[in-house]
Amino acid sequence: MNRVLSDTIDALLDAANPEPPELLREMTEYGREQEFPIVGPDVGQFFRVAATLADAERVFEFGSGFGYSAAWFRTALPADGDIVLTDYDESNLATAREFLDRQDGATAHYEAGDAMATFEDYDGPFDVVLLDHDKPLYVEAFEDAREKLADGGVVVADNVMAGPVEPENVTAALDGAEPVDDHTEAIAEYVAHVRDDPGFETAFVPLGEGISVSVKR
Ligand SMILES: C[S@@+](CC[C@H](N)C(=O)[O-])C[C@H]1O[C@@H](n2cnc3c(N)ncnc32)[C@H](O)[C@@H]1O
Repeated sequence: MNRVLSDTIDALLDAANPEPPELLREMTEYGREQEFPIVGPDVGQFFRVAATLADAERVFEFGSGFGYSAAWFRTALPADGDIVLTDYDESNLATAREFLDRQDGATAHYEAGDAMATFEDYDGPFDVVLLDHDKPLYVEAFEDAREKLADGGVVVADNVMAGPVEPENVTAALDGAEPVDDHTEAIAEYVAHVRDDPGFETAFVPLGEGISVSVKR
């Protein structure tokens, strides 16, 4: 994982954050072994707090991989809550099911295929929506999520600073330079889109690979 913060701050976060539950520690290790692009434990803890602040009962994930971010959200959801996991790759979702079956909590729905189409099939409201799928689809997914998001609900998006992009390239694109590639163009477009949306209050948080948090007014 290509983290944004310095080693010093990373070490502080490791020391300061609560010890993750055993299953999450195992999943972090699995992600690192497989070199799978998970959000990581600092962002996971942040998601847990965001879901708690939103009093979340229902979560939809665009891009779930093997269920790491979902397992973090689930730690904050009530037992009668719901979380929808999506991924193109059925084998990722099969692994997610194996891990999440070992965790008590909200009902998990595993939806293989295009997350954009899956989202159309679900009624709202959702309290939290995660964008962690194809970066060029972020703005469209955000717009799709708008009407299905509860008041006070939250859209979190990963990779707004690192991962498939470099922070200085996103900054330059936001300042008007020609984006260096499609991912940079998509992320800069998303950042400006949520920043300028009067219906949401947005903050950018340099944990992990950089996340944006947009709360519906
Ligand atoms: C960065 S990984 C997700 C990681 C996960 N959120 C976590 O932190 O544990 C992105 C995943 O999204 C999936 N993906 C990308 N675009 C998608 C789409 N349009 N529909 C469904 N899955 C998609 C990829 O197959 C990949 O497994």
